[in-house]
Amino acid sequence: MTAPFNTAPVPKAELHCHIEGAASPALVKAQAGKYNTDVSGFISGDSYVWSDFTEFLTAYDGAASLFRSEEDYALLARTYLEGIAAQNAIYAEIFVSPDHAAAAGLSHTAYFDGLAEGIRQASESSGIECRMIIVGVRHLGAEKVEAAAKLAASRPHPLITGFGMAGEERFGEVAEFARAFDIARDAGLGITIHAGELAGAESVRDALDHIRPSRIGHGVRAIEDGALVQRIADEGVVLEVCPGSNLALNVYPEISSHPFDRLRRAGVKVTLSSDDPPHFASSVGREYQMAADAWGYGAPDLTDFTRTAIEAAFVDPQTRAKLL
Ligand code: ADE
Ligand code: ZN
Repeated sequence: MTAPFNTAPVPKAELHCHIEGAASPALVKAQAGKYNTDVSGFISGDSYVWSDFTEFLTAYDGAASLFRSEEDYALLARTYLEGIAAQNAIYAEIFVSPDHAAAAGLSHTAYFDGLAEGIRQASESSGIECRMIIVGVRHLGAEKVEAAAKLAASRPHPLITGFGMAGEERFGEVAEFARAFDIARDAGLGITIHAGELAGAESVRDALDHIRPSRIGHGVRAIEDGALVQRIADEGVVLEVCPGSNLALNVYPEISSHPFDRLRRAGVKVTLSSDDPPHFASSVGREYQMAADAWGYGAPDLTDFTRTAIEAAFVDPQTRAKLL
């Protein structure tokens, strides 16, 4: 038997990480101490506690409610980015949710300035590059998602380069959100949307038809429709695949049934991300290692995923050229 390939030195990039979902239970507990709040409803010891997607969202919202100032968000962004830089990540895009910040009583300016300060500090200490993607939350409805798109389109910070939508994929019809994405696209933002995670191939097809994204968050359930897989490959749409998240949320029972490698072999552009790392016992480093262990990838394959991510990144040409 050959020894497992050690992915630690491989340069990595992730395009799909929700910043509020990147807060470790230890950091959230420290925040709870700061604000004299109880987190026993969704954290036990060193772990988040939830058993399905709805409960996961409750834990996510609970953690987010404890980041209430510019400094809190600077600390969160810096901690997350320095952590993955230590795993040789060179680039990350974080989903940022103005609705979560507003619910915690934070102004948009304080939210973006805090995150940008954390990004600046991490970049200074480790060299990692990071951009922000504003997301609307699907289950809050089309009006809220459109407000998030308008905010993104106003270009509130230079590090905000994309717009997306997260949340409960089974809520509403994707066509209801098309106007929000048009607003963001017209403002020159990169476009991505969660689809094909909690719902099947039809959801991915609808997202392609109505939203016309260059990337799809997850997208893995496209595998249920061969013609759709072919379309994704032909159109060069990039999938932000998060295998650890899919296993934790029971989209697939085990890594051997996960379609990442089948999608790749079908010519789909695939990348690897952690989604909400501490919720799923994940990190970009773990995703690369898990993929290498499951499908026998070596340095050339893994470097290819990183290159695909950088090529699909919502970043200016000079930064892209520096990273490639
Ligand atoms: N928000 C945070 N994580 C998410 C996920 N995995 N799917 C949809 N929305 C999310
Ligand atoms: Zn996600």
